[in-house]
Amino acid sequence: MQLPDEAISYHYQALLIPALEDWTPVAELRQQHFLHPNQLKELMPRLMQVRSQVAAERDLHQTPPQAGPIDAGFIDLPHKMLDQQSKLGGKSPLNQVLQLAKAMQEAADRVVILGIGGSYLGARALFDALKHSHHNELPAKDRAGVPRIYFEGNSLDNDALHDLFELLQLTCVDPETRDERWGVVVISKSGATIETAIAYRAIRREMVEYYGSQSPYLRQLVIPITGAKGKLRDLCVADGFTDDDILAIPDDVGGRFSVFTPVGLLPAAIMGLDVRALLLGAAAMTRRFLDEPFERNPVLQFAAVNYLIAKEQAKNLRVLSIWSKKLEALGWWYDQVLAESLGKNGQGSTPISAVGSRDLHSRGQQHQDGTRDKVVNNLIVRAPRHPPMMIGMADNNKDELNQFNRKSMVDVMNAAIKGTNLAYFDAVRPTADLLMPAISEHAVGQLMQLLMLATVMEGRLMGVNPYSQPGVRPYKENLIALLKG
Ligand code: PA5
Repeated sequence: MQLPDEAISYHYQALLIPALEDWTPVAELRQQHFLHPNQLKELMPRLMQVRSQVAAERDLHQTPPQAGPIDAGFIDLPHKMLDQQSKLGGKSPLNQVLQLAKAMQEAADRVVILGIGGSYLGARALFDALKHSHHNELPAKDRAGVPRIYFEGNSLDNDALHDLFELLQLTCVDPETRDERWGVVVISKSGATIETAIAYRAIRREMVEYYGSQSPYLRQLVIPITGAKGKLRDLCVADGFTDDDILAIPDDVGGRFSVFTPVGLLPAAIMGLDVRALLLGAAAMTRRFLDEPFERNPVLQFAAVNYLIAKEQAKNLRVLSIWSKKLEALGWWYDQVLAESLGKNGQGSTPISAVGSRDLHSRGQQHQDGTRDKVVNNLIVRAPRHPPMMIGMADNNKDELNQFNRKSMVDVMNAAIKGTNLAYFDAVRPTADLLMPAISEHAVGQLMQLLMLATVMEGRLMGVNPYSQPGVRPYKENLIALLKG
């Protein structure tokens, strides 16, 4: 049961043209760069019609070929996973994920997760958001049975892969000790992505070297996650994996929408996260999206406001200003969701994620004073996980901080957020706030589902298919042609 104060909300009133504002040069500028409440009002009938269209796409079992893919399976998936778990128990897909994760935790103290794009960014976002910031460096007893986690196969960086192998070689000497065993999760929906495939080939070589060519660990310590068909599945079957050992990515869920399939859930379970709370949060957001009126529906609000400000006010750079370092990777994940879903046919906002207050010292100047082509969505966490750290008194007050001795880091952060918003408002830079109650599994589940649903809504409003990604093909074709030389 979701309590109201656990819900995410979107506050966009600050980017609407204020009612009854006296004429000033700044008020005039606001007329040009902010949204008029009427623009939102006029969009309402279309917004509701598009919501019905997106909802109806959930039941499309066959897509007309000219429409391109319609991978709307992600919308109901969180609810479906939970429902199947209560009906099927041990045989449910969620329990299969949990069992494999537990076996991996028990068998190895380091896990390398291979994957790229949608097969990487969701798990990375969850790890950074919800685990200790220095998880891998914590002593084993403080990690409470959760292995150290590494991500690879997400680039073609020779030296990065080399460094990981060197770390494994230096720290793991006895494969018969759990603390010195490492395992692999290899994720690729198509099973054909070259970055992941090369890393997997290299890591299998390392495994043979470390565990021996006949070792049962070569299968026990590898969990493949892939689509129903493809080279990765063929490779694994040829290596002796059965269907039960391979986790399937549903056909009707696209890569960047797959965080609530085993692609995100298996890594999350290995990390020791509360996977059910993630799914409950996501399912709650789907319900709000489908059932709630605009006033209580952050998906519709986020989609409508960002669509209009890009289209009507030409703010084509979308800054996600993230006021928590722990959510930076979630910003990278949203970069992909937005860029790959909407950047087509010469359209689509360009995502930029910035971390406050860090990037106020790098990008702040431009956001305050540069080209007027941006909208800033602040992502604000209302409550920190740990008690606020006080500035406190010091005998040596050369830094002049004693005046703030009763203030905490949280107070300073809140002042930075408020102060930045005010500065942007005064300089006629539109901002809105996405408020999350805390960084918890339930809140992150809501947030990710909100951003995916809003992106699909926005795509349909723009008239582009949010589920396709034709633009990622040309580089792959050139790369293969060049390799074949
Ligand atoms: O959203 C997408 O479909 C892509 O970004 C993919 O997630 C990415 O290219 C990785 O593909 P795959 O999972 O097939 O290796």
